[in-house]
Amino acid sequence: MIGIFDSGVGGMTVARAVEQLLPDYPQVYFGDLARAPYGPKSRERIIQYSFDNTKFLLEHGAKIIIIACNSAASVATDLLVEAFPVPFFEVITPAVRQAVETTGSGRIGVIGTLATIRSGVYERKILAEAPTLKVFSAPCPLLVPLVEEGWLDGRETKMILRRYLQPLKLQQVDTLVLGCTHYPLLRELIQPRIGRRVRVIDSSAAVAEELKTFLASTPAVANELRQVGPSRYYVSDITDAARETAARIFGRPIDLIRTDA
Ligand code: DGL
Repeated sequence: MIGIFDSGVGGMTVARAVEQLLPDYPQVYFGDLARAPYGPKSRERIIQYSFDNTKFLLEHGAKIIIIACNSAASVATDLLVEAFPVPFFEVITPAVRQAVETTGSGRIGVIGTLATIRSGVYERKILAEAPTLKVFSAPCPLLVPLVEEGWLDGRETKMILRRYLQPLKLQQVDTLVLGCTHYPLLRELIQPRIGRRVRVIDSSAAVAEELKTFLASTPAVANELRQVGPSRYYVSDITDAARETAARIFGRPIDLIRTDA
C-alpha cells in the first residue's frame, strides 16, 4: 500500500491527488490529529512524531511512504530516509522542481507554516537548483486553523490572506508555492489576491506526478503496491471538523478509523 502521513487531515489533499492519478493503488493514511498542529512545534518534536507515524504506516502494510506534511518533510526527511529501508516521497522537492521550471522572472514566493518557513528548506532547495533565482518566503500561521474551522471563503480569511500575500505581491513574484498541505483548499482565494498571472504551485499534484513517474520506472514495486486494498484512513483523534474537511477534500464521506497507536 502507499503509506501517507500528515499531522491531520490536510495531507488528504495529497492522498486525493494520488488517488486521482493512481486509482488502482490502495493507500494507508495516518493523520496525527491528536498531536496536530505540527507547524508551531519544535524541530525535535516534529522529528519524533514523523518517526512514530512512519513506523505506524509500515506496521499497517505501507511499502512506500509519502510525507504529506510540509512541516514534517522540512525537518525529518533526511533522518527518515536514513532510518527506514523504503522509498520516501515528500511534498517539497516536486514543488521546488515545478516552481523552478515555471518561473519566468526568477522571482518565486513560498508560503507555509512557521516550522516550514523557519527551516529555510524551500529557499535552500530552489537555490541549489538555480542559484540566480530570488525566493521570498512568508509564514502564514493563521491559515491552518482557518481551514480547519472550514472558513474557506469568509471575509476574515480573505483579509488575512491579503495581508500575508501583500509583501510577496510587492516583490512581484511570478510563481507562488503553496508550502502547506492545507493551502490547496484556499487556492481559489489565494489566486486573485496574489495576482491572476501568478502561477500557483500545489505540492499535492506535484508529488502525485512524481510518484506516477517512479512507479512507471519500477514495475516490481508498482505490482507489490497494487496487491492489497482497500484504502484505509487512520487518525489519532476524530473531530467533526476533521470529518468535514476530509469529506470536502475527497468530495465524498471518508471513513476515519481512530487509532491510539
Ligand atoms: N500539514 C501541515 C503542513 O503541511 C500543516 C498543519 C500543521 O501545522 O500541522 O505543514
